[in-house]
Amino acid sequence: MRRLLPLLSTKPHAGGRSALTCRYRCGDACFQEVPNTSDNEYAGDIIASALSRRSMVRAAAVVTVASAAGAAVLGGPASGQAVAAPLDHPGQKPGKGGRLDGARGLRFEPVAPNKKDKVTVPPGYGQNIVIRWGDPILRGAPAFNAAKQTAKAQAGQFGYNNDFLSLLPLRGERGRQVLVANHEYTDEILMFRGYDPEKPTREQVEIAWAAHGLSVVVVEEERRTGSLTAVSRHHLNRRLTATSLFEMTGPAAGSPLLRTSTDRSGIKVRGTLNNCAGGETPWGTTLHGEENFNQYFANGGSDTDKRYGIVAGPSDRKWERFDKRFDAKREPNESHRFGWVVELDPYDADFVPRKRTALGRFKHEAAAPRLTEDGRPVVYMGDDERFDYFYKFVSSKRMKKGNSRAAREHNLTLLDHGTLYVAKLSADSPQDIDGSGKLPNDGEFDGSGVWIPLATDDTSHVPGMTADEVYVFTRLAGDKVGATKMDRPEDVEPSPRTGRVYLALTNNTDRGKPGKPGADEANPRNLNKHGQILELAENWDDPAGDGFAWRLFLVAGDPKDPSTYFAGFPKDRVSPISCPDNVAFDPHGNLWISTDGNQLGSHDGLFGVATHGERRGELKQFLTVPIGAETCGPVIQDRRVLVAVQHPGEVDGASVEKPASAWPDGRGKMVRPSVVAVWPKDGSNIGV
Ligand code: FEO
Ligand code: CA
Ligand code: CA
Ligand code: CA
Repeated sequence: MRRLLPLLSTKPHAGGRSALTCRYRCGDACFQEVPNTSDNEYAGDIIASALSRRSMVRAAAVVTVASAAGAAVLGGPASGQAVAAPLDHPGQKPGKGGRLDGARGLRFEPVAPNKKDKVTVPPGYGQNIVIRWGDPILRGAPAFNAAKQTAKAQAGQFGYNNDFLSLLPLRGERGRQVLVANHEYTDEILMFRGYDPEKPTREQVEIAWAAHGLSVVVVEEERRTGSLTAVSRHHLNRRLTATSLFEMTGPAAGSPLLRTSTDRSGIKVRGTLNNCAGGETPWGTTLHGEENFNQYFANGGSDTDKRYGIVAGPSDRKWERFDKRFDAKREPNESHRFGWVVELDPYDADFVPRKRTALGRFKHEAAAPRLTEDGRPVVYMGDDERFDYFYKFVSSKRMKKGNSRAAREHNLTLLDHGTLYVAKLSADSPQDIDGSGKLPNDGEFDGSGVWIPLATDDTSHVPGMTADEVYVFTRLAGDKVGATKMDRPEDVEPSPRTGRVYLALTNNTDRGKPGKPGADEANPRNLNKHGQILELAENWDDPAGDGFAWRLFLVAGDPKDPSTYFAGFPKDRVSPISCPDNVAFDPHGNLWISTDGNQLGSHDGLFGVATHGERRGELKQFLTVPIGAETCGPVIQDRRVLVAVQHPGEVDGASVEKPASAWPDGRGKMVRPSVVAVWPKDGSNIGV
């Protein structure tokens, strides 16, 4: 019989997540002390006085430019204001000509909040399971058999808890695409019959190592519908796990801070851990954030360990018993080799994935690139922790176009050279912010900001820290320069239409608690349960610049709650939403948002919202996921929507013996995290 740890039965749970999810996904991050105890204002003052007069003058000028540019670029409230179009929410019915109302790409009947144990989609849409945890993808891998699972089998099968998804073109193979998936974490209680958290076996631990990481699998569409099925044994299919070879690159690669007793080079790393969200680059590779890596390490103790949440004592999964690298006392630098952005070339089955040190080390939720006018990549990144920071990296090298070998090799160096920045936001109506979420008198939560440079290649911009220290202990660099403490920066995505950048801030129930920072204009609610989405405009043609303008696009929650805001769109015509997490754009320029931890009594879901035009702010729910699950990895193509249903059935008290969900295969079958495709049954495009 499974023994319940006190942790699992006694703690109240922040957000809408179960104790199991909190424990296995992020090592109970919400129950640890907030790791950011820095007094930024004070530290900022010190650094400011230490900075050269020239850079301060430049920064001041940039803020002014940003304010001016922001007003022009973002437009006043009026320009984004929606008109009260005659809609019939919720449960829209066909309007004139039988066509559903809504912005192009969002013409579907919204799904009502619900607690059904299935993926619920709008009327007229079909769905299919693309791939499940344990489905074989490599030659020689056996079919999934929960009772006979082995680490060897798992290493050739789709991993556990799919999160980020990318669907890339596959030239020369009609109707096929390349699916890349992150496998964020394992939940051993739901994977192994009779699992004893105090005494995991070596086989169980090695299965968990093999179930982490990334999958590359070619998928094929069925031409009459939008359904997708996995092609097993394709030569591009690949598994990368917690023990595969990865390489550190960029300015901190080889640093003494990254060397261990088994890797004196500080370059060769085994594995990737806790890959949450990610991104696609314009040069055809994928990026994967290593998020809550801290939870896999035992016996932490240093100040830097504390800032990253590596606690003293044993780890939950007890991996340190089976490999000493997970014991921070015995191998103190091993944890420094996790918490990076990984770049993968899915078109090269022999490619050794690279951990890009130039992009800094923190709990990387995601990494979203775009290009400057002159072709240099800019990558936006959130550090998902209460009161942590928002970053960007600007490459100093230009992308080469084309698919030649030389171009591909060149482009694989772009993320190794450039400048890492952290965001500092200023508000324009600070006097109006009372923590309730009441809109300021000027009608918007908005302001300007500066990107504070932390390091450029081998040069540190942070007094008292070397460049290696800035890259390896990036959170401490952010503390020193006075970065703005945000409400858990999750996924981020620049609009391919307008260039505006959207950052999901999922929630922060510690905001405004005694001894903790209170509300500010960008994080305007104390005890923030539902989160918000920030819209940012760079100094427009130049996303490499160091000034920006921002405003809140959505303040999430029940639209009847006066603290919510939907870009000014009438609130009686939008779906309720809570805890935005992953964001993606569709081909029409609508933002799609998946949620994690709904606090409004419904299951998590996927939503679409117009970001420009008359319908700006009109948010509609597209689907909901089964019991215990989170919606992840949305990909929105013309013909289909792809979602990763992560941790179905992960509710308190559940186990293999006592499943809380019957998804996806019905009662008596193992609950399996899976990827789902959704498509219009009539063969048309999504939402048109
Ligand atoms: Fe893995 Fe921040 O969600
Ligand atoms: Ca304002
Ligand atoms: Ca996430
Ligand atoms: Ca999440």
